[in-house]
Amino acid sequence: MNRIVSTSWAVLGAPFLVVLGLSCGDPVHAGAVADLGPEASGVRTGPLHRPGQPCTVCHSGSGPGSPTWVVAGTVFDGAGSATPAVGAKVSLVDAKGEQLTLTTNGAGNFYVREGAFGGALPFRQVTISQDGHVDAIMKTQINGTGGCAECHRGNGNQGRVPALFLGAKQ
Ligand code: HEC
Ligand code: HEC
Repeated sequence: MNRIVSTSWAVLGAPFLVVLGLSCGDPVHAGAVADLGPEASGVRTGPLHRPGQPCTVCHSGSGPGSPTWVVAGTVFDGAGSATPAVGAKVSLVDAKGEQLTLTTNGAGNFYVREGAFGGALPFRQVTISQDGHVDAIMKTQINGTGGCAECHRGNGNQGRVPALFLGAKQ
């Protein structure tokens, strides 16, 4: 009798767990978003917000940001600097040979939406340029995400990859 009861719970429980897994209430995602904190005061959601943060935590289809960015990040003026690098070029080539070049805006931010760039992983030939000369090259290819700050963080993330900045070659 006990065995029958527990079996029926297992049968009921399985689809229940599947529904939880697919719902937008994913606690891991919600926690990652919450860890990034509120908007800086006086900055509206838009092109200039959240410089240095991993844009793709929020702009990857699970919200709360929209649209979905295929590649996004921020370039700073120098190592350890919070000053944006304005007008720098970020370029890369995707797995199908499609070339992308983005120009950083007034916050140092760059991004391209889904549909505007194929974005087939992995990405190669990832460079940052300024005034027509290549300033920094990522030697390895990017396999997992076009969200640059998922690895490149201000003081170095767990993998100790610093933020993206100009002057890396000097
Ligand atoms: C903590 C979550 C979060 C992060 C991190 C985040 N955003 Fe956003 N972003 C939002 C939300 C929310 C909106 C407003 C969405 C809406 O109005 O539907 C938004 C809107 C935008 C918009 C306006 C889009 C449009 O067409 O209206 C741009 C551009 C943008 N974000 C760029 C970025 C960039 C670049 C980064 C990284 C440097 C970034 N965001 C990081 C949550 C985030
Ligand atoms: C999965 C983690 C990861 C992601 C995502 C990532 N990078 Fe990197 N990046 C690294 C590592 C590790 C290095 C150092 C080793 C190397 O050069 O390959 C690096 C180095 C670089 C360098 C050279 C920096 C220097 O000091 O010379 C540039 C430029 C760069 N990355 C740009 C980017 C851009 C632009 C993006 C987003 C399109 C990006 N990276 C996404 C891990 C990552």
